[in-house]
Amino acid sequence: MAQPAQQADPVRPRASRRARPYWVEPTLTAVVFGLFVLYSLWETLFHHNGVYGNYISPFFSPQLGRWLGMKDFIAIPVVWAPFLFRATCYYYRKEYNRAWFWHPAGCAVSEPKPRKYTGESRFPFSWSNLHRYFWYVAVIVLLFLWKDTIQAFIFPNGFAVNVGSLLFLLNAVLLTFYTFSCHAFRHIVGGRKNCYSCTLGPNAGKPTGSYRLWTLVSRWNQRHGSWAWASLFSVWAVDVYVRLLILHVIQDVRLF
Ligand code: FES
Repeated sequence: MAQPAQQADPVRPRASRRARPYWVEPTLTAVVFGLFVLYSLWETLFHHNGVYGNYISPFFSPQLGRWLGMKDFIAIPVVWAPFLFRATCYYYRKEYNRAWFWHPAGCAVSEPKPRKYTGESRFPFSWSNLHRYFWYVAVIVLLFLWKDTIQAFIFPNGFAVNVGSLLFLLNAVLLTFYTFSCHAFRHIVGGRKNCYSCTLGPNAGKPTGSYRLWTLVSRWNQRHGSWAWASLFSVWAVDVYVRLLILHVIQDVRLF
């Protein structure tokens, strides 16, 4: 005899199928991302030097504050750009909208009453639409970070590889994947087309350069959340490393 179909939960139909309770991921994000924000504030508001020898902390690069003749808060003229780029990133938006604002707290989880879910169509959530413009600024900052990475291998006695040099390199690579797996960049290379299938080119089976680039970026984009977390920790690690060197708590180790 046919079994009656199981009744779906009318309020949270997908929530009951979760492997973990919906609040676990937002809570972890709130704690880790919150610690990073607190650390960033401490670093940029209470420290006025981010340079040790040939190393420049990513929080202080480029040295715009110095070029402007500032003595204090020299990270502020630059740090806003990567900060806003991350804060408006699609991935982080998802995470902190759930963790901090419960907007909503999870997929198929209702907003706390009497709020109604309005997505990102209303202020203050609508400000995230500026992300596509912050991407261009982030690319400029990334170019400086690559310059700093090359500089991290050049010591007074010439080329060498220290633990710090490798940390800089790892950070630049992760940030590059994070920046170029961005949804906005994917749109830049693959969007704005009146005829999507035309990107395959006039000869069937011969993709255009634009289509190839879009395919590559789409592949990176599938792991955008991982790049986001990995690059956040690498920025954090490089800054802590440079700060500990400045404070003479540790010494840089020469590898070869
Ligand atoms: S969507 Fe995450 S950096 Fe653009």
